[in-house]
Amino acid sequence: MADAQTVLLGVTGSIAAYKAVELARLLIKRGVTVKTVMTEAAAEFVTPLTFRSITGHPVGIDMFEEPTEWKAAHVSLAAEADAIAIAPATADAIAKLAEGIADELLFSVVLASKAPLVVAPAMHTEMYENPATQHNLDLLRSRGAVVVEAQSGQLASGDVGTGRLAPPEKIVDAVMGELGRARDLAGHRVLVSAGGTQEPLDAVRYLGNRSSGKTGYAIARECALRGAAVVLVSAPTALRSPRDVELVAVRTAEEMAEAVFERFDEADAVVMSAAVADFSPAEPSIGKIKKDAAPKSIALRRNVDILAELGKRKAKQVLIGFAAETDDIAANARGKLEAKNLDLVVANDVSRPGVGFGADDNEVVLVGPDADETLRRMSKVQLARHIVDRLVGLLEARGRPA
Ligand code: CTP
Repeated sequence: MADAQTVLLGVTGSIAAYKAVELARLLIKRGVTVKTVMTEAAAEFVTPLTFRSITGHPVGIDMFEEPTEWKAAHVSLAAEADAIAIAPATADAIAKLAEGIADELLFSVVLASKAPLVVAPAMHTEMYENPATQHNLDLLRSRGAVVVEAQSGQLASGDVGTGRLAPPEKIVDAVMGELGRARDLAGHRVLVSAGGTQEPLDAVRYLGNRSSGKTGYAIARECALRGAAVVLVSAPTALRSPRDVELVAVRTAEEMAEAVFERFDEADAVVMSAAVADFSPAEPSIGKIKKDAAPKSIALRRNVDILAELGKRKAKQVLIGFAAETDDIAANARGKLEAKNLDLVVANDVSRPGVGFGADDNEVVLVGPDADETLRRMSKVQLARHIVDRLVGLLEARGRPA
């Protein structure tokens, strides 16, 4: 049997801290090893001994305590955690998580860990609804954390409002969901393309597009977090390469085609999220074109359609493409799915403001051979998770005998 997965349960200083005891018990019932780290404030509400007794493991609080079972506690705990659940999370804890402040053991562990993060807030309504708290929660969500929203009901103060910790069962479901994802791409090789290609016109100018690369980078990061060996073939972007990803930097559609074709055979899946220029200046000037010599027109030539070519060559690979549409989104995307021999098309409505090119959010339809899935507006990080969930499903289906 595989070793039990480890959840690091972070308890912060809220009256709801006692509910974390039930949460620990339910997680253990699901076969999970639970290790607890409390803030000093949390230990004012519930004794560490309670968690130690329930989980069978020492409880971390103090950054500078002599280590017992653990080595440098924040580093080894961070590496050991398959998922981190902060429940209850106070407004102060959420602010520290959002800002990357590491003034207690718990926050140092979170900062040092790559594990998925589940945050379950609990606080008084005004604090919960305060734009500062909501902004911090949005920040955490945009980085991929799962927020199990507080619920409405009677609060410790006697007031009624939103701010009660979600029921432990709901938090357990969120944690188990993250654990399920934790290594589901282990052993797979995924090739992701991202960014907008630049097609030279002369020594300094190019034809480009407004792609930011955010979705492709988020997909590459999500695949790496879930255990895949990831190659990210990227046209220029303003983004930093995600951790644990092999970055191949390219500029033009031609360079991207070469980099992708070269690595296609060894890939199990390809996600073409790059905005590849369909055409380039036919005769780019080697020097800079002087303004007095400005051409009246620029002759263009068609570039290879990388994805269509992959569709022709594909053996066992899962192929995911993107489509930028303005009308009949799903129908047009289905046309591309069939024409390019793809397994999934992520279809954008590029006519809508606030989503798509350059924005942090997107609203898309996932078009597969049999059905469409319309996703609500969400951050590109959350969208990446949905796309990778589908990718995992497609790989699993491929692995199954017909
Ligand atoms: N693509 C590619 N090579 C190209 C152009 C596009 O691999 N030369 C890929 C993109 O990465 C994306 C998908 O194909 O995954 C987009 O398909 P495309 O037919 O270009 O769709 P649209 O951009 O929506 O273009 P059209 O104007 O044809 O509707």
